[in-house]
Amino acid sequence: MNAKEIAAVTEQALAEARGATDAEALEAVRIRYLGRKGLLPQIMKGLKDVPPEERGEVGRCANVFKNEVNALVEARLAVFGGAARKQGPAFDHTLPGAWRGLGSLHPVSLVIADAVRIFSRLGFAVAEGPDIETPYNNFTALNTPDYHPSLDAKDTFWLQGGALLRTQTSPVQIRVMQSHPPPVRIVTPGRCYRRDTTDATHSANFHQIEGLYVDRQVSLADLKGTLAYFARDMMGPRVGVRFRPHFFPFTEPSVECDFSCHVCGGKGCRVCKHSGWIEIAGAGMVDPRVFAHVGYDAEAFTGFAFGMGIERMAMIKYGIPDIRMLYENDARFLQQFE
Ligand code: DAH
Repeated sequence: MNAKEIAAVTEQALAEARGATDAEALEAVRIRYLGRKGLLPQIMKGLKDVPPEERGEVGRCANVFKNEVNALVEARLAVFGGAARKQGPAFDHTLPGAWRGLGSLHPVSLVIADAVRIFSRLGFAVAEGPDIETPYNNFTALNTPDYHPSLDAKDTFWLQGGALLRTQTSPVQIRVMQSHPPPVRIVTPGRCYRRDTTDATHSANFHQIEGLYVDRQVSLADLKGTLAYFARDMMGPRVGVRFRPHFFPFTEPSVECDFSCHVCGGKGCRVCKHSGWIEIAGAGMVDPRVFAHVGYDAEAFTGFAFGMGIERMAMIKYGIPDIRMLYENDARFLQQFE
């Protein structure tokens, strides 16, 4: 083909492309002129037979032919909403899938799940209560008098109308005992709120897990055995456990329970403030005055109760140095735990 013929074919192809009324017709034009068995390859193949002095011109025309037809077909295909080229199934099952990224459990959730698992093996059921409480459940029924400093607005978030955000999970003890006759054996994990200034070990919003066991002849020895069993399952068989006398309004006697520091193994380090021990739980024998508030017979029944901080346990178990890391929602941090 000479240059003139190619120009004529170009016009013809463009006219056909303009006349095409759908994507398939356009594709047919492209195949007819530019396809592997179409006109363009023939022109290119014939190039070697063109006299050398015309070859440049013919080559240039062939390029114009190719580019113009291609451009028009593409432009009009876009109008019809995309290619009709059939290149195999629309769904390519060999392509890698879109990775949605699995989430992971938050360390606080992990510790709660673990604690619930351990206590349920000892026969404790899970009970829950609301975050918004009455002063009666949070303080009065727990034998905490009105003048106790923890009622102060500096420490407790009071709501309009006299309700408050519970400062501990202990009010769930009251709810359970008010609605169930003894015996009861429950643990109650949940959020608590205190007006604490946030720092490496304090947060105004944190979690506790509370335990309550009331039956005939429950003793302090049962409490010690329960918490020691819990400590070993949660922290490993080598953990040390010790009990110190303490005071809580709702237990008599009251104790604090420490676990040996997992970082230094009890030798003393920065984490345990060089004491070798870390305070984990408050506990004690339920005060008969609490039983009086819920109508339990304190002559016939005794019980122990305990409450511990979940964040503190998570920090110890996973070696997390700052409580704020638990609340920053940085997935790179949170994904490390299981
Ligand atoms: N409620 C106490 C606190 O937040 C912890 C506690 C101590 C709970 C003794 C108990 C208990 O059930 O018996 O510090």
